[in-house]
Amino acid sequence: MAEQPKSVWSSISFWRRSAAWVTGFAVVLLIWLTFDTIGQITMGTDADLQNGVTKRVPAPTVINYNIKYEMNEKRGHEAPVIGEKESFFGKEWSVDEAAALLHLGKLTSQAKNCMNCHTLLGNGAYYAPDLTKAWLDPAWNNDGPMMGMTGKSTREEAMAEFLMHPSKYPTHARMMPDLGITAEEAKGLVAFLKHMSSIDTNGFPRNFGKEQGGTYAK
Ligand code: HEC
Repeated sequence: MAEQPKSVWSSISFWRRSAAWVTGFAVVLLIWLTFDTIGQITMGTDADLQNGVTKRVPAPTVINYNIKYEMNEKRGHEAPVIGEKESFFGKEWSVDEAAALLHLGKLTSQAKNCMNCHTLLGNGAYYAPDLTKAWLDPAWNNDGPMMGMTGKSTREEAMAEFLMHPSKYPTHARMMPDLGITAEEAKGLVAFLKHMSSIDTNGFPRNFGKEQGGTYAK
């Protein structure tokens, strides 16, 4: 009987070789991506901030600077812009103080489980607004409703007051419950939120500026 010509698609050795090449390529790609990501997400230093070096995740002392969120035409989305120095809770925070305050804020956000209702950098629940850029929500501006409602004169004090007594300042059908947050913890949380807003998240959440934060500024 004459041998049938075999198609390459039914050749076992072809599939074995392809599998080996694809696996090898994926391994190299993943190792490269891992190193690239580590470089991108490593926190910057205070010196970077002083020298105007832009880092995707700035140092904790970014709380001593004004942060704006501006349209970047080249990238096609908004990006944080770190501006002039401004006082935060009435003072400038040293490298150690800023790191300690941010740490307290992060621990408090975990202890009080903010993610049970909110998303942080996209992770968490969808009951309450995403907090990634909450610090930049125009509702906390000088002429915004939250400043007026809480009777405070700075963004950070208004936010801390809200976090300590959210049920006193309901603005929507859904209300944030009092979580028993102390004044010190509230300061830490506000630092945590301010730092998070300075992280370059490639425009996440999408259209924050257009929706004006969505939460209060409607
Ligand atoms: C039980 C659910 C729940 C938990 C837990 C919770 N929140 Fe909220 N939060 C809400 C709701 C609902 C709103 C919207 C309130 C409104 O519009 O009046 C809100 C609003 C906010 C806002 C205002 C958002 C903006 O864009 O200005 C901030 C800031 C905030 N929460 C921070 C926190 C932090 C920090 C924690 C953890 C310590 C936390 N929340 C835990 C439900 C929750």
